[in-house]
Amino acid sequence: MMDIFRQPEEMRAWSQARSREGKTVALVPTMGYFHEGHLSLMRRAAELCDTVVVSLFVNPTQFGPNEDLDRYPRDFERDMELARQESVAAVFAPAPDSMYPEGFQTEVRVQRLATHLCGKSRPVHFAGVATVVTKLFNVVGPDVAVFGEKDFQQLALIRRLVADLNIPVRIIGHPIVREADGLAMSSRNAYLDPANRAAALSLSTALRLTRAEAGRGMRDTAELGRLLEGHIHSFAGTTIDYASFVDCDSLEAVKTVDERTVLALAVHVDGKAGNKVRLIDNGFILPQ
Ligand code: PAF
Repeated sequence: MMDIFRQPEEMRAWSQARSREGKTVALVPTMGYFHEGHLSLMRRAAELCDTVVVSLFVNPTQFGPNEDLDRYPRDFERDMELARQESVAAVFAPAPDSMYPEGFQTEVRVQRLATHLCGKSRPVHFAGVATVVTKLFNVVGPDVAVFGEKDFQQLALIRRLVADLNIPVRIIGHPIVREADGLAMSSRNAYLDPANRAAALSLSTALRLTRAEAGRGMRDTAELGRLLEGHIHSFAGTTIDYASFVDCDSLEAVKTVDERTVLALAVHVDGKAGNKVRLIDNGFILPQ
């Protein structure tokens, strides 16, 4: 039996009852349209806690005015079936006006971390994420929350947020799940044109290429950057938003690759119906 809650108060009461029974609760926050990446987060959550709660909410405040809020892929019934198969105990799927009722005017901002990488081209995104994730933590009160490492900046920001605001939840990052050909799984992959797959794969192949060059001794990030940007641009229809070598915690750009260096990529590729699709990927450059 999987419970589905629409109202924050009902969700909170259910979670509090589990805690009173002595059960630990893990939360997997999502925006739905589940793929294997989401399911692997649910499985990890089940390993860590007695009870798994999944939130499914396409959060309007993290989308900019010209972004894909209206066409973000949705399939509630299929998602519920997949969650049931993963033995999820409860789903919190609120309507926007129960999360942001009339008069709502509070925002949570993580300052510096939100200015790097995706924060430059998506100026409202991380305040929306930080606000909704804080609300989800307050509603569900989880012991543990599991997030994918594909949204690497989001994960860094949430770790900071939880530490800064003394929120009593343990944050767990889970490795990127990839398609057989290397494409990082994402709900937005539904926008991709299969005929343009090679361009979509340019992110994961650029990561591979960069690791190989660094393994051969090239550590200068300007030199590596030229090489990988040339690789991505060799595919028609690609536009790089950023290709940045950053420190894994501060997200500040670095000049020389070391064990803490992550290559973070965001690239627009041509998708279905002439729409551009923004893809992200990332990874450590040197073996961990
Ligand atoms: O990663 C996501 O799906 C979203 O940003 C999150 C964490 C569920 C907040 O809306």
